[in-house]
Amino acid sequence: MSTAAGERSVLLIGGTSEIGLAIVRRLGASAPARVFLLGRDPERLAGVAATLDGGGEYDAVDADALDTHEEAIARAFERGGGFDIVVLAVGVLGGQAGIDANRLVAEEVMRVNFLGAGSLLLASLGALRRQGHGTIVVLSSVAAERARASNAIYGAAKAGLDALAQGLADSLSGTGVRVLVVRPGFVRTRMTASLKPAPFATSAEAVAEAVIRALDGRQHTIWVPQVLRYVFAVLRHLPRPMYRRLPL
Ligand SMILES: NC(=O)c1ccc[n+]([C@@H]2O[C@H](COP(=O)([O-])OP(=O)(O)OC[C@H]3O[C@@H](n4cnc5c(N)ncnc54)[C@H](OP(=O)(O)O)[C@@H]3O)[C@@H](O)[C@H]2O)c1
Repeated sequence: MSTAAGERSVLLIGGTSEIGLAIVRRLGASAPARVFLLGRDPERLAGVAATLDGGGEYDAVDADALDTHEEAIARAFERGGGFDIVVLAVGVLGGQAGIDANRLVAEEVMRVNFLGAGSLLLASLGALRRQGHGTIVVLSSVAAERARASNAIYGAAKAGLDALAQGLADSLSGTGVRVLVVRPGFVRTRMTASLKPAPFATSAEAVAEAVIRALDGRQHTIWVPQVLRYVFAVLRHLPRPMYRRLPL
């Protein structure tokens, strides 16, 4: 994939993600963009690629297959001719049952959201550093800010990914590589389709809008909607006995 002048090349990891695709589409609406999708189901990726303006290339990667990540990312960078923007949108929510969560689901949530996404983050950052420029957008969550009884497993895994992204971002200061950590609240996508919307629920398009604005600036972390930054600044410092009584 060679890019024409003024065109941005974008790699979406989690190529079927509703939030990821909203970001990719919004990027394409503001300036020409070439898109490469990485995901675990080539048939679904082909379907998604066909809906993108100008189509898109795609390839397979499973977040759970750690030993394939370096090669899959290297292959994508080679086929794409490098990327200006990488969006890391891989994630699974699992149930909201806390300690009563199905054990296999709980393990998948921990593996995919931390180990899998973290490994894809490391491989992508390595590739961006080798090319000497580029931004990676990491879909974290407000759940990363403080564990809640009902989604402790997802929250803990996202907290791990968020911390990894922040620390690696600092280690890459001055290299031309930027990490933008995005902490959305409840977003109405298929991931949350079975849940009652939380306060300040938002849309994939609103997350995309906030990401596009942040890409033009210098922030390293954003909350969507922004008010959640202040809500969680309070929540994270509430004493435990108060925090655990909140209907979160
Ligand atoms: N929706 C929310 O309320 C919300 C809030 C905060 C943060 N987030 C985060 O935002 C990101 C995108 O979420 P979304 O709402 O767009 O949900 P989504 O549409 O369900 O997207 C999740 C993506 O992760 C992929 N994925 C899951 N397991 C994978 C695996 N083992 N290997 C490769 N890919 C895998 C899915 O692929 P398949 O299509 O193959 O399943 C899909 O592309 C996630 O990281 C999520 O945790 C979401």
